[in-house]
Amino acid sequence: MVTGELERHGHEVVALAGGTASGATALVELLVRQDVHGLVLGVPAGGPLPLLRLLGDPALAAWREAQAVPLVIVLTDEPDGTGDLALLEAGATHVWHVRSTGGAAGAMLMDVALQYAAAALAGEGLEREVSLLRRMLDTARAAFCISDPGLPDDPVVYVNGEFERLTGYRREEVLGRNCRFLQGPGTDRAVVRALGEALREGQPVEVEVLNYRADGRPFWNHLAIDPVHGSDGRVSRFVGVQTDVTQRLAELSTAEAAALEDELTRLPNRRALLEELRQAEARALRHEEPVAVLFIDLDGFKEVNDSHGHAAGDEVLRDVALRLRSSVRSGEFLARVGGDEFVVVLDRADDDAAVAAGRRLLDALEAGGPAGAHPDAAAPRASIGAASGAPPRVTLPELVARADAALYRAKAAGGGVATALPGA
Ligand SMILES: Cc1cc2nc3c(=O)[nH]c(=O)nc-3n(C[C@H](O)[C@H](O)[C@H](O)COP(=O)(O)O)c2cc1C
Repeated sequence: MVTGELERHGHEVVALAGGTASGATALVELLVRQDVHGLVLGVPAGGPLPLLRLLGDPALAAWREAQAVPLVIVLTDEPDGTGDLALLEAGATHVWHVRSTGGAAGAMLMDVALQYAAAALAGEGLEREVSLLRRMLDTARAAFCISDPGLPDDPVVYVNGEFERLTGYRREEVLGRNCRFLQGPGTDRAVVRALGEALREGQPVEVEVLNYRADGRPFWNHLAIDPVHGSDGRVSRFVGVQTDVTQRLAELSTAEAAALEDELTRLPNRRALLEELRQAEARALRHEEPVAVLFIDLDGFKEVNDSHGHAAGDEVLRDVALRLRSSVRSGEFLARVGGDEFVVVLDRADDDAAVAAGRRLLDALEAGGPAGAHPDAAAPRASIGAASGAPPRVTLPELVARADAALYRAKAAGGGVATALPGA
């Protein structure tokens, strides 16, 4: 019956000759070999002294230390309890007195005691699971924070070590407070509102929010919160996982910036130009002003490449980009859109202003003398086509096409000029 009860609770029952040297050895071997979480040591006869010896075995002490919740229940028939302290000091976690009356009654008492022990082991097993989970959370590499929405203002009831490391707050400074203490002046109120609404509805939520560490330093927090439901179906806990994504966001914006940049000249590239054209069109519409586009193409660049090689060609392009960049003014956007092609978008510019700007750029190109590493080469020259118009009568892609056609004319005229193709 005792064996059955213990086994029903998932415990293995091993009969040992307790109290003897061979019993201790066998027990220690068993503990070391197997994943044993709890011990019930019965003393049907002989009193606690042999048990004391057994409990004092160093191998047993090592086993107890390795357990999160060591459980050593000693059933003793010692009548007055004077040996209890010694048993507890030797490592027993519970000492239960079982009056040994001998015979059937004694056996029954022992049975009852063992049933209690088995139930206690089951309970402690649960506690051990909880303690194991807690230790796993404590040592997890992600920051965890658990709140109790059943309490006023949904206070934090648990944070792990990584949360402390991430936020710089110590556990005792955090427990009992709502997590909004991490927010500050730069925190987006709309994000916080959405967060609050999701939580009030008991929904999972994931946001990126600007938070502040204990020392005031801001960080981008990727926050994922999940509700945990109790047996009554209500949300009993919220579990939040915080990740510092400051570095990743910074890398992302660097990558985004790089995606809009021409690698050779570091000027905005074709993609950046398309975005700028959209914005320029919106600005011109809003202010009811004309906008102009210049298409620039170097003259004779192919010959530079052919006679001096691509590396020399690249040198020239870098040099040309520098000269153009230093001569564009505010309200003018310069991009490199292909081999030796550049485009400038000019706010508040009609045909005349566009052609004047084109001439300014041509002068700047030639004034610098030979470009690149070949001092004997001629100063770079270019042809420029210009077109202007006021949206919505004209779209920016139409202006680009007209500027391209004007460039063709400038080339046909021998190059080195800026020509406008008047609007239809
Ligand atoms: C488990 C849990 C963790 C949370 N962690 C954070 C956090 O790291 N950073 C943050 O800004 N808000 C966090 N919050 C959100 C705030 O506690 C609060 O719910 C939010 O500011 C919306 O409520 P309020 O509008 O009343 O401030 C967390 C909420 C819960 C339930």
